[in-house]
Amino acid sequence: MTLRIKIQKKYYLKCTECGHITPDFWTWFDQDQKCPKCGSKRSEVWYNRRYKRLLRLLKSSPDSFWHYFPFLPLLRRRHIISRKEGAIPVERWGFLEKFAKDNFGLDIEVHVCRNDLNGGTGTFKDIAASLASSIFKEINIKQYCIASTGNSATAYAKYLSMANVNCSVFMPEDVIKTSEATISSYGQQVFKVMGDYAKAKEIAAAYAKLHHIPMSTGNIDPIRVEAKKTMVFEWLRQIGKLPDVYIQAVSGGTGPIAVDKGIRELKGVFPELKNPRFVLVQTDGCDPMVRAWEKAEATAFPDGFEKDYPIINNPRTIVPTLATGNPATYPILAKLVKESNGTFIRVREKKLIPVGKLTAYEQKVVPGPASAVCLSGLFVALRKGLIKNGETVMVNTGEGPNRAPYFLEQMIYTTREVNHVDDCEPHEIDDYRDQLWRDVLND
Ligand SMILES: Cc1ncc(COP(=O)(O)O)c(C=O)c1O
Ligand SMILES: [Zn+2]
Repeated sequence: MTLRIKIQKKYYLKCTECGHITPDFWTWFDQDQKCPKCGSKRSEVWYNRRYKRLLRLLKSSPDSFWHYFPFLPLLRRRHIISRKEGAIPVERWGFLEKFAKDNFGLDIEVHVCRNDLNGGTGTFKDIAASLASSIFKEINIKQYCIASTGNSATAYAKYLSMANVNCSVFMPEDVIKTSEATISSYGQQVFKVMGDYAKAKEIAAAYAKLHHIPMSTGNIDPIRVEAKKTMVFEWLRQIGKLPDVYIQAVSGGTGPIAVDKGIRELKGVFPELKNPRFVLVQTDGCDPMVRAWEKAEATAFPDGFEKDYPIINNPRTIVPTLATGNPATYPILAKLVKESNGTFIRVREKKLIPVGKLTAYEQKVVPGPASAVCLSGLFVALRKGLIKNGETVMVNTGEGPNRAPYFLEQMIYTTREVNHVDDCEPHEIDDYRDQLWRDVLND
């Protein structure tokens, strides 16, 4: 039995709507993960710490995001559950820089945040799951539930089982089979909901209520935001600055929400920091935020534009990870994007395999489908003139191909079926280059 720590001075949660203070996560879960005063589900964690200490942390070499323990909402290090996640390499990808130079005359830096190298499940979602499971261990939560299109649930299923927490997972019916299998293999409960992600969330919420089980509150969940904000600390540590442009495939948008939070947290020590221009990418298979943004742009962003967005029922997409047809966080994201002078852009799903093949060929990194969306976004951003000379771009890729064999299999292009040695000749890797670029750039 974990004793409840009644008084702690490390952190507190503050409601973003009314400012109400919740003293700790025990209380936060007791009050149903919302503000008891105004009912808002969005509170942010703040720390009674001096950020000078962070400057020192930026000088050493961490092996996980737990390096930033003083700025994470956990009280005891012994509760940490980690598989070396976060603090992943940010790489400079020269082939993209060269492309920008040769085709658009731009001298830019292209940095790629390699979330596929996370130690837990190799996606975006490992840091949040690591922080959540550690907090649950500390505050003694034994049951949890989550609705997810795949990657979040896989990460939570794994880390929560390491913390001995039972996790009920609600997935839409078109979930990738490998995600379902992975979650099930840990012994966590999968509920496959006949319907889309919105329906999975609906049933999960009803189940949570019925059984009094806490449920992940999604993209504004303070636990997820606190984990992901460390991305900003890592940029400062690894490249010594913030990017001018941030590109990410967006589903619900924890990424940009957390980047904004991380930067606001650092204002005390680095007053000059500001948000990068957020360039958020969706595919033509599920693009409610892009549609909303295009409408707002066409009408010169009228008052309240952020509240006007479409809902796509049962989106048909080859990237189920990003299939949020009902983008409830759009009002938050749209404001952030507008204030940053960023935009939402659409990429075509038919370009994802060509971009995946090209990236694997040029960089020897095979992207998963959602990462191919993000990388395609860079090509579209360049074509649309969204990146200026001298700028630094951060491309935040979320996953490798392991979870999506159907995607990976489409990358086969050098195979020749043979019966006899006379059918076999040595090849030149370079011979493939032109065609691979043509497939990306041609319509
Ligand atoms: C690989 C990958 N990329 C992008 C996203 C979108 O993340 P966000 O919650 O920031 O929209 C997800 C999550 O759904 C993901 O798993
Ligand atoms: Zn409130």
